[in-house]
Order: sequence, then C-alpha cells, then structure tokens
Amino acid sequence: MQVVSVSSLKGGVGKTTVTLGLASAAFAKGLRTLVIDMDPQSDVSAALASRSSHGYSIDSVLNNTSSSVVRQAVVPSSWTGPADVPVHIMMGSPAVSAHDKPTPTKQDLWKLEEALATIESQYDLVLIDCPPSFNGLTQTAWTAADSVVIIAEPGLFSVTAVHRTLLALQAMRLKMSPRLRTAGVIINRFRPDSPEHLFRLDEMKQLFGDHILEPILDETLTLQQSTGAAVPIHRWPGESAQTIARYFDRLLVKVLVEERF
Ligand SMILES: Nc1ncnc2c1ncn2[C@@H]1O[C@H](COP(=O)(O)OP(=O)(O)OP(=O)(O)O)[C@@H](O)[C@H]1O
Ligand SMILES: [Mg+2]
Repeated sequence: MQVVSVSSLKGGVGKTTVTLGLASAAFAKGLRTLVIDMDPQSDVSAALASRSSHGYSIDSVLNNTSSSVVRQAVVPSSWTGPADVPVHIMMGSPAVSAHDKPTPTKQDLWKLEEALATIESQYDLVLIDCPPSFNGLTQTAWTAADSVVIIAEPGLFSVTAVHRTLLALQAMRLKMSPRLRTAGVIINRFRPDSPEHLFRLDEMKQLFGDHILEPILDETLTLQQSTGAAVPIHRWPGESAQTIARYFDRLLVKVLVEERF
C-alpha cells in the first residue's frame, strides 16, 4: 500500500481536483484505492457523492483508531460499476477541524498511521486530500504518508507557497518521518495564453527544477464539469477529457514509482 498526501499550504490551487484526477487514473487501472478526506470542507467526499450511513468519519477515526471505527468510516464512492474495483472514501467532516491544532503532540500525529495499519492489506493506493494549512491535520496526513505531492498554480503567491511547503516537508522528515518523500510539484490551472502564467512557469522551473512533475495541467472547463457531476475524468465524454485522463495516467505513474529527493 502506498500512501500519498496531496498538499499545498495555499488554498484553492487544485488539491481536491488533482486528488480526484489521480484517483480516476487509479480507478481506470483497477487499483484498490482509498481516498481520505482530511479537509473539514469535505469537498472530496461531496465530489465522490458519498454519504456515511452511520455517521462515522475521519473525525471518528482520529478519536478512536480501532479497526471497527476505521471500517465504518470507509464507504464505497459513487465511482463503481459491475466490472469495477470501486474507489472507497474515508468520509470527511467539519468536526475534524477540532484536530487541526497549531501544536499537535506526537501522539496526535501518529493517529492516521495507526488507523491505516488496520486496513493496510486492503488497498494498493491511499490518496489523502489535505486542507490548505500546516496545522495538525496536514501534519497527521504527512506522518501517515510515504510521499507528498505538492500542488501549485503558476502565480506569485503559489511560488512562495511551494517553497514553504518544501521547507515544511524537510522539518517534518526530521521531526517525525524520515521515510517521507517529496513526490514532486504538479502545476495546475496553467493558461498558455497568459504572459503572467508563462513567466511564473519559467520561474518555477528555475526554482524547483527536477521537483516539477510533467505534464502540466491546463485550466479546462472539462475538469470542473466532471467534478461537478461526480464522474471520474476517465469516464467523461469528449476529447478534452481523454487528453486530461492521459495526463493523470502519466502523473500517477510518476507519483507512484519515482524515488526522488
Ligand atoms: N485544471 C483546472 N481547470 C479548471 N478548473 C480547475 C482546475 N483545477 C481546479 N479547478 C477549479 O478550481 C477550484 C478550486 O479547486 P480545488 O477545490 O480542487 O482546490 P483546492 O486546492 O482543493 O481548494 P481548497 O484549498 O479550498 O481545498 C474548483 O472550482 C475547481 O473546479
Ligand atoms: Mg480541497
């Protein structure tokens, strides 16, 4: 089981969208995939059109990491069909914000790792959609993760956020988890006709070089439409969707196999 945290210390750059794109690529490959909704906004739970029938969520899991609670917090998503391995989701909840402490204890940070140990044999891939901050929730996700994918837009504040995220990763490796890898930086919402985006992309290539994972994801309406309809991009009609689906296939391969830094 590989655990990948999708993170950015900046909001709205596409963490949830990329989590869904990578989950869609894993779904198309037939990987046994679990998405964990670590964000109190619970966007990825909504996008996977999932509801917990008994009210258990990531909040319950961080309160009690026993296997019975973990199992009840995980539900099949709407991404399923008779011939599919369904994508599962560990449901999000606004209540999880109680765990987003500015100074979490080491005991707090191990909780998700403990919980995942109880279901380790059931999944090939776990994708964690993180909130846009570096408090307890993101740190808990990173402690459970093998690698972190950083999401960035080609804009000034996003460039500085990538830098902060890389520094935070270094600190986390020293403090908690020496095994934690940086899978790389995925650049999202690129507009090739924008001089500002072209300038920032060039700047990011110079600053972060080998960290940047190709291909770069353009801004497209198709991604918004498929997300809004709770349909995996690999199953959305049209050429644009197929192009983006192939991009996510390539990104998934890089996230899973590349040993970096
Ligand atoms: N490549 C893209 N093309 C078009 N729209 C996009 C793309 N990526 C993200 N978006 C849109 O941008 C908005 C923010 O994306 P998303 O919710 O994935 O960001 P986020 O980083 O998860 O945000 P938050 O920090 O609030 O969790 C959404 O409306 C989403 O549909
Ligand atoms: Mg999000």
